[in-house]
Amino acid sequence: MSEPLILGIETSCDETGAALVRGRELLADVTASSMDEHARYGGIVPEVASRAHLEAFVPTIDAALAAAEVDLADVDAIAVTAGPGLVGSLTVGVSGAKALALATGKPLYGVNHVIGHAAVDELVHGAFPDRFIALVVSGGHTSLLLVDNIATGVTELGQTLDDAAGEAFDKVGRLLGLPYPGGPHVDRLSQQGDPTAIRFPRGLSTGKDKVRHPYDFSFSGLKTAVARYVEACEDRGEPVPAADVAAGFSESVADVLTAKALAACQYHGCDTLVVGGGFSANSRLRSLAAERAEQHGITVRIPPIRYCTDNGAMIAALGSALVREGAAPSSLDLPTDSGMPLETVRV
Ligand code: KG4
Ligand code: ZN
Repeated sequence: MSEPLILGIETSCDETGAALVRGRELLADVTASSMDEHARYGGIVPEVASRAHLEAFVPTIDAALAAAEVDLADVDAIAVTAGPGLVGSLTVGVSGAKALALATGKPLYGVNHVIGHAAVDELVHGAFPDRFIALVVSGGHTSLLLVDNIATGVTELGQTLDDAAGEAFDKVGRLLGLPYPGGPHVDRLSQQGDPTAIRFPRGLSTGKDKVRHPYDFSFSGLKTAVARYVEACEDRGEPVPAADVAAGFSESVADVLTAKALAACQYHGCDTLVVGGGFSANSRLRSLAAERAEQHGITVRIPPIRYCTDNGAMIAALGSALVREGAAPSSLDLPTDSGMPLETVRV
């Protein structure tokens, strides 16, 4: 018998994603983004995102089915993001997925978006090892997970206590007068600066904080330190060394993320680190993760960036893993959960 065919639907933030996955093979992945509509507001406007999902939902799914050259009737199961995310955005996707499931009689799986960011790597680099660490970093999440089975055995080791890494980059981008979203701009600017010129603090990385929060992150103190530095330059009437600020800031974020992820690998006896989420595009995170992992004999798996930003493939990949494990589908009254716990793979 051929592997099950899964339709994955993602609408947790500003991307409407639909994808078809058979087993661990990606057949089609289509994304419509409303980012252009939010850029002029300097942040995501939830109601604008919800309406954009409503408009893009059916065309995106139709485009994915056409690209995969399959019919809805061929699909074995539908997976949809149930949380975490913006409640209005999630509601559009989950309502649409329920309608599809009811109309077709297909089983429906309401799945965890953050775990999807790790699951997608199976479509790129093949089956996961028995145990690995996943670092999921984006504008909305910064989480460290211990994964024994992506469908049934995910343990949360830690997450950010305040800002997500991408969010901190976006805020520093604003401080430096860069366009929204600032992350990629700060990254580019940092490559022209000296990462050792200004040493910014490393959150939860020393003394009692490190003992109490070995795998948690905090970037708000770092963001404040950057703001103070910029203000002090301005108060003295000096130009802000923006490239050095960006480089020192990027260094701090990449240092903390990689140090904690590799410490988790060592403590839990994992030789594989999977990195996902839109922030995996960050150049310093990539280079430092590769350098440190090699020193520790750990393999780093990072999917190509188009699978790191929000997409339907990650949800189809997780749905596929659940179906392969024989997990029961969700009930058709499944709720959305904007604060879905990281250990809940499926509601
Ligand atoms: O996964 P994603 O597309 O959306 C969320 O779920 O949040 O992640 C986007 C986030 C934004 O905050 C963006 O500024 C940040 O990731 N980002 C970056 C880079 N590329 C995207 N931050 C730093 N360096 C980058 N190269
Ligand atoms: Zn995401």
